Order: sequence, then structure tokens, then C-alpha cells
Amino acid sequence: PAPGWSLDADVVVVGSGVAGLTAALRCSAAGLKTVVVTKARLDDGSTRWAQGGVAAALGEGDTPEQHLDDTLVAGVGLCDEEAVRILVTEGPGAVHRLIATGAHFDESAEGGLALTREGGHHRNRITHAGGDATGAEISRALVEAVRARGIPTVENALVLDLLTDAEGHAAGVTLHVMGEGQHDGVGAVRAPAVVLATGGMGQVFSATTNPSVSTGDGVALALRAGAEVSDLEFVQFHPTVLFLGADAEGQQPLVSEAVRGEGAHLVDADGVRFMVGQHELAELAPRDIVAKGITRRMQELGTAHMYLDARHFGADMWATRFPTILAACRSHGIDPVTEPIPVAPAAHYASGGVRTDPHGRTTVRGLYACGEVACTGVHGANRLASNSLLEGLVYAERIAEDITARHADGTLHARVPADPAPPQRPAHPLLPPEARFTIQRVMTEGAGVLRSAASLAAAADRLAAVHADAAGALAEDGKTAEPGVDAWETTNLLCVARVLVAAARQREETRGCHWREDYAERDDAAWGRHIVVRLNPAPP
Ligand code: SIN
Repeated sequence: PAPGWSLDADVVVVGSGVAGLTAALRCSAAGLKTVVVTKARLDDGSTRWAQGGVAAALGEGDTPEQHLDDTLVAGVGLCDEEAVRILVTEGPGAVHRLIATGAHFDESAEGGLALTREGGHHRNRITHAGGDATGAEISRALVEAVRARGIPTVENALVLDLLTDAEGHAAGVTLHVMGEGQHDGVGAVRAPAVVLATGGMGQVFSATTNPSVSTGDGVALALRAGAEVSDLEFVQFHPTVLFLGADAEGQQPLVSEAVRGEGAHLVDADGVRFMVGQHELAELAPRDIVAKGITRRMQELGTAHMYLDARHFGADMWATRFPTILAACRSHGIDPVTEPIPVAPAAHYASGGVRTDPHGRTTVRGLYACGEVACTGVHGANRLASNSLLEGLVYAERIAEDITARHADGTLHARVPADPAPPQRPAHPLLPPEARFTIQRVMTEGAGVLRSAASLAAAADRLAAVHADAAGALAEDGKTAEPGVDAWETTNLLCVARVLVAAARQREETRGCHWREDYAERDDAAWGRHIVVRLNPAPP
């Protein structure tokens, strides 16, 4: 659709989680005219839901090198070591700068930062806030800072497509805005630097820890714009999500790894600690190993969940250390002080995304990506717990530095068209919103924790049929779903689901969070590499 309104800026940041708002604050502080656009309200993304914390080598005896080692082990041979080195060495400073921006982290009895442990970490290095409300505190502090700086924001703005200039450089984005006064309807923000910080795609599955806004919009935009996307097959399933019934759909309450970090045990219905003996770290093994351990035990016993037992914490510790989780459990009729918590794995984090270099640049000039939408290379085949908020912070700062430098030296110079239009591409059917539920069910059944050639082929066929229905209606009588947020989101979900399934079919091995029943082993000779996808021709 042709934009009905437009704004001009030096930088447009798409998304308002830890990555987007950090990039916006740093760009604005460097004197760049910065606009933030976000799909719902400023604090509606995934960041606000993060519980565990931010990992950084801040404790006595800990070093970035040890954090690097743990990250590389979790990533099972597919991390980009340079990207991880940047993350772990710049991480401690980034946490201190976040504190200087206004975030309050929990302190230890001695007055330093309180540090806890999570899966895959050999040290206590997870900083946290409000006990288990780390993301909420970070979001609060960043939103306040953005408002205090007076950075222009457009809320309820779903990003549609990248605008490019005649040379194929990013030149802004088109947006569909609902109910925001002068910016209502389809419009554009024109800028020579576009930062994608749109978060993840958990909503591609039926049950997820992600909020409803996590529909893969940034990855879908990047694919349509000809940018490279990598590692989409590596979807992380969080091991311990509150089990609300086999048919529960949408966002499910997380039970943080920090609960296990503080000593909770995973047990089956007979009280057996089934992770003991499976890994030297037992319940605190890397997340993929624990998710597999739980799923295997569920299969052996024919049950739909396991239990997390933390009754020994006692009422006081539950109330002070994990108030959010305590309240969530109680609101569903479970009291973790007196009974074990039913838990099962659910989709949690996209380790892959839009491919970037160490400065957050994608393969399209002027288009940057950071946070969950990006694939910087730090996560490899499985993200280490609490590295995601850290990645958002560190790489957002690097992006701001790069944009500032390129702005100053004149190398960021898209000739933003006066009358911008999205890149030409073949007519693309918009999906009816109700197709979302089919996509989610297909993905959970065929491309969930356990995958096989047969399950993935069935998923691919059913997704192709969803596309064919919409394309058929478009070809036959020019009909497409009514343009609107639901239809665009569903179209994006299908786009990322199809690429994810194709990558998962291709990777005939088991590695990290990609578990193939028919290829049970890791195969370094064939698959010690990334699957990189580019859908449309790259811009000139
Ligand atoms: C958690 O608190 O368990 C989530 C931490 C993360 O996903 O990194």
C-alpha cells in the first residue's frame, strides 16, 4: 500500500525492547535524529517478560574467558567466536551503563550486585532485578530514559516493508499504524539507517513464553528485502514453562532457570530426579539438554509434563526471590511453597535470525539488526541462558557507534526517495488471520522439540497448502485477506515458518536445540556450518 504520511529521521529503530531502546538512546545521545516505531506499546515486547537476568562476568573469580567457554559449549560448535568474545568482554561495561541509565539491579548482602546461576553457566554470573522481574525493570528504565530524552516514538505501528533507494540501500520502512492520531493508517519513516529490533517469533508455535507480538515480523521483512537470514532451525524450547494443560495455547508463564539455579529439582511423578546422571550439571545443564531430558522422560512415562520441586525454598524465599513466578503459579491454583510445579518445555527463543556482522550490519546496506531478530553468531545452535538481554545491550551499542561513525564520514548516504514505495515484488497474498492457528498447530506437531524427516515433510506440505489456498484465491479472483495487523502478522508467521521448516529438513543431524529423531548424532563433517537463506534477489 502507498504510504499516507511520512516522517524523516537519521535513524529509525523498529522495536522497543532492550535492543531497540538501547540503540535509540545511544543514537540520540550522539546527536542523530532518531525515531522509534513499535508494534504495540513501548513496553509490550519480550524484554518485559524476561525473568532470570543478564549474564556478565562480574563476580569475583569470574572472567570474560570463562563466560566465553560456557557460551561456546552451549552453542555446540556453531558460535562465531569473535562475536562471542565481543559479547563477553563488552558485557560487564554494558551492564554498568544500563545501571547508569537508571536500571536497579538486586544487591547482595555485601552491597555488590547479587549474582545467581542458570543452566550451562559454571559461575554465578546472572544479575537480576526485583527478584525475578529483571526484564520489567530494564524495560521501565529504558522507556523512562527514552521519554526523558524526548525521542519521538510511534506506537501501535506494525512494520511492513523496507524502503530502499535506487542503489538498494535501506531508506526507511513502511508501517501500518492503528489509532495514533496524525500517524494513523499506512505511512513511512524515511531514514538512511534502519535498525531492526523486532524481537522473536515464538508465536509460530502453539505454546510459547513469548508475548502475542512476537510474530517474526523483522525476519519476514528482511527476507522480503533480500537480506540473509541464518540458523532459523535453532528454536530454543525453554525446559520449565508452567504446564496449563495439553491444549493451552499462546503465551504461557515461564518458570525461570534461576529457580533451578537456586536449587530446585526436576522430578517425575514418583519424585525421581531424572536429570541426575544425564549431565555433570544435572538440572543446570544447558537448556537443550534439560529440554530433551524432560521430553524423553515424558515419553517414557506417557505423561504431558514433569515437576519442578522447590518446596524447600520456603514461603519467605519464594516471596522475596521469585515473586512473579509465585504469583503466576498461584493465579493458576498451584502453590509452589507446598507442592511441586507442573512444567513442560515450550518455544522460547529464536537463536537464529537476520545475519549480521560484528557491527550489527545486515547484508543490505543501511539495514541493521539487534536483539532476538538478529543472528550475530553468539548463540550458535543453542543460546546460553541470560545471554539474550546482554546481546541486545552490547550489539545495540555497537550499532549506534557504527551508525554515528558512518553518518559522520558520509558513508551512510541512502538517497531517500521523496515518494517512497516498497520494493517491487510479485503480488503476495495476505493470509486470513484464522490461518494463524493452523500454522501454530502444524509447527508444534511437526517442527517442535522432536523433529524427523516425516514430521517436517508433513509440516512443509501443510504450510504449502495454507499458502496455496491464499495464492489461489488471489490468482482466481484477485481476492486477498483484508489488510490489517492480524493478516500481516499471519502472513509473516507463514513466511518464517516455511523457512524454518526448510532449514530443519536440510539439517540432517541433532545439534543444540535442533533434535532430529532420525539423525540422533551431531555430524560435524556435514553440518558444522550454518544454513543461510536469502529469499528474494539481493538489492543491487
Ligand atoms: C529464564 O529466566 O529462565 C530465562 C532466561 C533466558 O531465557 O535467558
